Amino acid sequence: MRIIFFAGKGGVGKTSVAAATGVKAAEAGNRTVIMSLDVAHSLADIFDINRDLIGKQKGKLVKVKENLWIQELDIQEEIQKNWGDIHKYLSTLLSTTGLDEILAEELAILPGMEEVSLLLYINRYVQTRKFDVLLLDCAPTGESLRFISIPTTLEWYINKIFKMERTIAKYARPVAMKLYNVPLPGEDYFDAIEHLFERLRGVDDILADPEITTVRLITNPEKIVLKETQRAFMYFSLYKMSIDAVIMNRVLPEDVNDAYFTEWRKSQHQYMELAHQYFSPVPIFPANLFKGEVLGVESLKILAKQIYGRKNPLKRFYEGEAYQISKSNQEYELRLMLPFAGKEDVELNKIGDELIVRIANFKRHILLPRPVAVLDSVKARLEGNQLCIQFEGGNHDQDKE
Ligand SMILES: Nc1ncnc2c1ncn2[C@@H]1O[C@H](COP(=O)(O)OP(=O)(O)O)[C@@H](O)[C@H]1O
Ligand SMILES: [Mg+2]
Repeated sequence: MRIIFFAGKGGVGKTSVAAATGVKAAEAGNRTVIMSLDVAHSLADIFDINRDLIGKQKGKLVKVKENLWIQELDIQEEIQKNWGDIHKYLSTLLSTTGLDEILAEELAILPGMEEVSLLLYINRYVQTRKFDVLLLDCAPTGESLRFISIPTTLEWYINKIFKMERTIAKYARPVAMKLYNVPLPGEDYFDAIEHLFERLRGVDDILADPEITTVRLITNPEKIVLKETQRAFMYFSLYKMSIDAVIMNRVLPEDVNDAYFTEWRKSQHQYMELAHQYFSPVPIFPANLFKGEVLGVESLKILAKQIYGRKNPLKRFYEGEAYQISKSNQEYELRLMLPFAGKEDVELNKIGDELIVRIANFKRHILLPRPVAVLDSVKARLEGNQLCIQFEGGNHDQDKE
């Protein structure tokens, strides 16, 4: 089984790249499914499938060619299916506060519910071995970042909170109803949650195993897109999900010589260079800006060829962790893999929440998580081919937690 997440800002080309990867993987004989998690689905359109034909198949697997299926998840329906009881309880509770019923239903979609539906699918497909490859066309970055924190949060919830809540509810239910006229969740609510957890068991291990799961970040050579990619790079690294490639989509082809594009080309070159400073040693695969939209299998094949060349698209393109952050005794340590080990002077510069590391010709920009960015003392030492950077002090609010 191989699972690849395609993540990035809205409109950068996630769906196109996921579809291109799927076409290539399926052609090599892998049973491949591409699942779309973006509410603004466009998978079926890319494969030129008439939505009327999908009709009742909404949310189901649709075969698009030999070895290749697509599935556009219908979030509302998934929630009904997986969360029926929980959702019902929460909307009843919210409507007792005087909220309009429809609004209450809408609000009762807790953050995380959508993501959990997806986790259930991942788990099911891994267990049933129906597919060799699972490609996940993610929602725009912000939302997919929330997704990756879900397994950890759930684990915490079930171990720390769930059992206690269940016990409290059991004793407090009659009293609460009488005194406050607020329904406390019934046994079926807790049963539903427990059942859900059963079905989620193991999915966190699957996502954390870089032999199985990696993330590919899609980006464009533009300032704002790149900045967001840098942030995603940090978060995925923090959650220890392995990023094995960055795909730089929409690069102006070299043979476009029109003077109109001179400025574009210049700035694209700059941002490509910057991308190396942000993401190296993770490889960056460029793909050209097409003449028109990327539609249909033929243009997906061209896109796949530009990105992967003759390489197997399922390969794990980068095996290390680009960087690691750990914390012990109020001290944070950042470890960076260096492409070489030398004794040259290390120059560190912290500007805002970015750390700039310079050693000889090597330069890296690393976006720091907030609790680290506010610390003021920075020290570095080389250990083999790793650079260890320590951050201390200055952050008194953090000390109190
Ligand atoms: N390399 C490219 N050249 C030209 N158009 C592209 C390219 N990549 C994507 N597009 C087009 O850009 C639009 C958004 O792409 P899409 O893959 O849907 O992005 P996302 O899934 O990230 O929102 C689509 O119309 C797509 O055809
Ligand atoms: Mg999309």
